[in-house]
Amino acid sequence: MSQKSIRTVVFPVAGLGTRFLPATKASPKEMLPVVDKPLIQYAVEEAVAAGAKQLVFVTGRTKRAIEDHFDKAYELEVELEAKGKHAMLELVRNTVPSGVNCIYIRQGEALGLGHAVLCAQPIVGDEAFGVILADDLIDGQGEQVMSQMAKEYTKHQCSILGVERIPPEETQKYGVVSASEFNSELSRLTGIVEKPKPEDAPSNLAVVGRYILSPRIFQLIEETPPDAKGEIQLTDAIARLLEYETVLAHEFKGLRYDCGSKLGYLKATVEYGLKHPELGPEFAAYLESR
Ligand code: G1P
Repeated sequence: MSQKSIRTVVFPVAGLGTRFLPATKASPKEMLPVVDKPLIQYAVEEAVAAGAKQLVFVTGRTKRAIEDHFDKAYELEVELEAKGKHAMLELVRNTVPSGVNCIYIRQGEALGLGHAVLCAQPIVGDEAFGVILADDLIDGQGEQVMSQMAKEYTKHQCSILGVERIPPEETQKYGVVSASEFNSELSRLTGIVEKPKPEDAPSNLAVVGRYILSPRIFQLIEETPPDAKGEIQLTDAIARLLEYETVLAHEFKGLRYDCGSKLGYLKATVEYGLKHPELGPEFAAYLESR
């Protein structure tokens, strides 16, 4: 790998979102709004801020709304223009900045996160790339997490995982790493396991939906057998990657909301509502008053 920066970010968005049924029966969980923006738009803005020019969405059935969201909305734009609603027009037009390309690939079967990432290989090619799981909404401190990681990538030119310390009893929800200190912000991975029981977990450092991966991962995913549930896990392929290359873990600065769970989603709604420039003070007063 000798590229300076990350050009492509992959968004695996084929998951069924069963935890939000019936809301997600006919529309994607990634389109759930936090205040006024869908989760996937937060993820796209994070990727673009980190310098991505190519966004690859690995989609499935019931996910067409994502394509429409990042497409031109002719009728709406004409109407807003005619009514002189310029601020709204800008919001509608700027879901993706110019110079950034969106590419959609269908993952025909739900065969796991590893398989979803492998679907992006024909577009990514032989370059390092980012992966963002839109469910993990992270309010980066200072700058967004993918930007923090892209900077580290430029320096170290190797795979980097975004990690967070989690309560030890929650290890079964995450990929959990073992790592030795590299410098104050980074550690070097020595192992990674998918959703271990607390008593088997190597640490409480969990991978939370942000990855920069070397293209060697594709071959390793191809060689990864499905787990007991029939899913090909990205975590298992990363464990193999360690046999060949350095992988770093970046303990990011910021607050994460697990928007794959209803409680995490509600917390994000409250916090982003309080920070919202138009609504914040009024919403804070409402919360105070009840
Ligand atoms: C996936 C990954 C897991 C990671 C998690 C982060 O799990 O398999 O390693 O820690 O995302 O959100 P999922 O939440 O899809 O079950």
